[in-house]
Amino acid sequence: EKSGYDHYMLKEIHEQPKALRQCLRGRIDDLDGTVDLEDLADLDHEGPIQFVACGTSYHAALFGAERLQRAGVRAQAFLASEYASDRVPVDDETLVVGVTQSGETADTLRALREAARAGATTLAVTNTVASSAARECDHALYIRAGPEIGVAATKTFASQQLALALLAFTLSDGPTREELEALRDIPGQVRTVLETTEARAVAEEYVDADAYFFIGRGYHYPVALEGALKMKEITYRHAEGFAAGELKHGPLALVTEDTPVFAVVTGDDETARKTIGNVKEVEARDAPVVAITDGESDVTRYADHVLEIPAVSDLGGSVLANVQLQLVAYWVANLLGRSIDKPRNLAKSVTVE
Ligand code: F6R
Repeated sequence: EKSGYDHYMLKEIHEQPKALRQCLRGRIDDLDGTVDLEDLADLDHEGPIQFVACGTSYHAALFGAERLQRAGVRAQAFLASEYASDRVPVDDETLVVGVTQSGETADTLRALREAARAGATTLAVTNTVASSAARECDHALYIRAGPEIGVAATKTFASQQLALALLAFTLSDGPTREELEALRDIPGQVRTVLETTEARAVAEEYVDADAYFFIGRGYHYPVALEGALKMKEITYRHAEGFAAGELKHGPLALVTEDTPVFAVVTGDDETARKTIGNVKEVEARDAPVVAITDGESDVTRYADHVLEIPAVSDLGGSVLANVQLQLVAYWVANLLGRSIDKPRNLAKSVTVE
């Protein structure tokens, strides 16, 4: 059932183009140039939006919240385990979106129930039809990634990113023609990334590192967090993700020649330039730099290795960059002989708070 792959995780990483196409299927109206989410036909919402989620799904929620914020919608992402309706302003004007692959995560279900009691409208963004989250929420949006066996979430994260981008377009001003085209191109571009081989070489080079750091800004900040989480989960090595700008506020003290820093940089705008500034700071401390980039900026000048992705919008770029980081984590874990599909101490679905 692993279709020739050594692990479900690698199989599921390679299933991403298909998963993403399934996520988009029938949801883009070419004639009108609009996003059309049939699942949410009766959702009509104008007020603030709060996301609640855990782990990888929280990283997807951060990504979704940022898309909405950029469209001028009041949106915020919360860790479900920290969400408390008596501290967060939530009422019947609020849409609370639980992002949960399994639909069974206890922390997320509790947050959704609390929000519902406070009068909020609730929406589950999930992979699992008839899961508790799907049944209990007022609405459900399915990410359609197909079953994920590996404990580490891979294709479901990419599908959450895409589904949340679709959701954000329906809850704000719809996409422009270019944005729509860009969404449609993502599955094919993920395939292109999966054909690259550099991630394995990077893993071989840094398999003995003391720690791994990941930095990004904007849409790439959740990707930095996710890159580090994947690395921790399956390699048992120390890994941390930081907002690129935070590096100089403390974590820089950890940076040495034995701590590779993975920097996600796309385009050549102000955001890219600022992250490149942070890359220069770590380079000055002799840390190896791995740039995950579309090559639009001069970040490659400061990088020891480049993990290439196609040049697309920063939204799409963060989906593609994450795939490269999945591959690096996979190959490091593989070289270390870890139990990749069932990492120690972890379960696929966490049904206690
Ligand atoms: C990481 C991972 C976990 C889950 C988290 C939430 O690879 O799988 O961090 O993302 O436990 O799970 P769901 O999305 O099922 O609510």
